[in-house]
Amino acid sequence: MKKILILGLISMTIITMNNCSPKTAKKTTTAAEPAKPAERPAPKPVVNNTPPANTNNAKPWEGKTTEEQVKMYSAMSDQRKDMGGTIYKTNCGKCHKLYEPGSRNMEEWLKIMPKMGQNAKLSDTDYMMLCSWLTQNAKK
Ligand code: HEC
Repeated sequence: MKKILILGLISMTIITMNNCSPKTAKKTTTAAEPAKPAERPAPKPVVNNTPPANTNNAKPWEGKTTEEQVKMYSAMSDQRKDMGGTIYKTNCGKCHKLYEPGSRNMEEWLKIMPKMGQNAKLSDTDYMMLCSWLTQNAKK
């Protein structure tokens, strides 16, 4: 008789434990759900941050004569000129062959460069470093 009673007690505790566990599991899922919609609006500020970066419409080389541009680019550091060479090699041979920098003089380069800089989607800084490298390597 004692054994039956003990078995009964054990099975009773198992049944009560099983009844409780689904309830706690349900609570955690309902608690986790409202967290998801709160995460979604987060990317919006990133979209809102984009326009101020584009409001800088005037490029540093715009409205300058060829002579003034060459002066500006020549004055840039050797380190920047070297970086410009890397930018040239990685961005300017994608749509056509990589033109020899010595195939044109600076005046000719600066006529083509604004269009090609846009083609290659160069940042203002990368564009200027590229042009500074050209001042060293263009036809004299
Ligand atoms: C998205 C494609 C594309 C990229 C990237 C590109 N170009 Fe061009 N490039 C062209 C096309 C198309 C032409 C044909 C002529 C034109 O559009 O004026 C051209 C022509 C040229 C010419 C010859 C122009 C002439 O009239 O003699 C040179 C030089 C040149 N590109 C240099 C560059 C340099 C430097 C870069 C890197 C900043 C570059 N390109 C990146 C598309 C591209």
